[in-house]
Amino acid sequence: MDRPYLDLGPCGPLRGVLRVPGDKSVTHRGLMLLALSQGEGRLFYPLKAGDTLSTARVLRALGAEILEEKGPEGARLAREEGPHFRVRGQGLRLKEPEDVLDCGNAGTLLRLILGILAGQEGLFAVLTGDASLRRRPMGRVVEPLRAMGASIDGREGGKKAPLAVRGGGLKGVSYTLPVPSAQVKSALLLAGLFAEGVTEVVEPVPTRDHTERLFRHFGLPLEAEGPRVRTRRAEPFPARDLTVPGDFSSAAFFLVAALLTPGSEVTVEGVGLNPTRTGLLKVLREMGADLEWQVVEGEAGEPVGWIRARYSPLKGVSVDPGLIPLMVDEVPVLAAAAAWAEGETYIPGLSELRVKESDRVAAIAHNLRALGVGVEEGPDWLRIQGGGVKPGEVEPFHDHRIAMAFAVAALPVGVRIWEPHWAEISYPGFFQDLKRLCGAS
Ligand code: S3P
Repeated sequence: MDRPYLDLGPCGPLRGVLRVPGDKSVTHRGLMLLALSQGEGRLFYPLKAGDTLSTARVLRALGAEILEEKGPEGARLAREEGPHFRVRGQGLRLKEPEDVLDCGNAGTLLRLILGILAGQEGLFAVLTGDASLRRRPMGRVVEPLRAMGASIDGREGGKKAPLAVRGGGLKGVSYTLPVPSAQVKSALLLAGLFAEGVTEVVEPVPTRDHTERLFRHFGLPLEAEGPRVRTRRAEPFPARDLTVPGDFSSAAFFLVAALLTPGSEVTVEGVGLNPTRTGLLKVLREMGADLEWQVVEGEAGEPVGWIRARYSPLKGVSVDPGLIPLMVDEVPVLAAAAAWAEGETYIPGLSELRVKESDRVAAIAHNLRALGVGVEEGPDWLRIQGGGVKPGEVEPFHDHRIAMAFAVAALPVGVRIWEPHWAEISYPGFFQDLKRLCGAS
């Protein structure tokens, strides 16, 4: 069978200003909270891509009305005019779905919606996803939800999807996250909105806090105190419009592409600068990157601003493992930067990358080797020998971020990317934007 591929580059320098699609994490959460609200609310500049369209589809099956409204074409417009989802919620009570709920490739969807469904008195639902999602660990959400009283079963005793849930009877617990995971934290906080008493999540290592910020936006119960976040049973709450910032994780590909292509200067505007997401900026600066950024506004409780990257000779570093949860989705593109740096880069703390959309430690090592880069792989670390890449072929392993990161890594020398459509999981139009900025046709 013919496999699709895309030949890209060599091209550069990259020059220009860019707006990236809406934040994936905020879009998932915004849709879910609007679906639980009363009345009608709009989610402006959402991410409309594989993962978040799965969320819209699942929420529709649970009774929410969700319309996609375009707004005029063109540059980012005033929020009242821009493209948006118009959502009419069901209040806190969702409808029992008639069929299995397919979460596609979206781990955030499956884990967060499981928390919500566990709280729905008497409601029965079955959740599944694509081959990648059915391989990913679900015990991390199922076990604490069961401790709250949830009735959940599934493959391997509930460790893997498909999962079946019969909602109701939840009681708040205090739960310390054994692995740093915003998805687990968020699933428990969402379940806590339906539980008796207080639900507390303790996170020894901070992770992205979009759920907490959106709870505040919607006036839902939330107390945060150091590593502890608490919520309790919610009263019905009204819908409220919100605007989604540009996705920092999508911006990261262009920042790194500019850093490693001589003569480049790229500015990304309207991008989320939530400090629980921007660990990559710190590491790149340590590597010698010429990066500037500034917060200029706030949207949905999130800091939003611009980031500018200019070509910079980079040097290898040893990354602080404590930063990994603040850049967990940016490690593939950090590996691209490391491949071009002078000297060696050591990236520890990567055990969570083994259970993402693909085994990202293995996928990074494979693609670096395919591009002629020296790499050593440990159970939870990578050691990358810098010095540049050779033209080659990139295998995405069904993983959007691997496809995009290695397109960037090999852009200055030219690359063949197999199955480039995987990028559409989080960034439809990625390759067009990349070609536009680097002046390729
Ligand atoms: C996400 C959290 C992260 C991240 C994923 C999105 C979220 O996963 O990798 O792409 O929206 O909460 P974990 O929290 O499980 O590490």
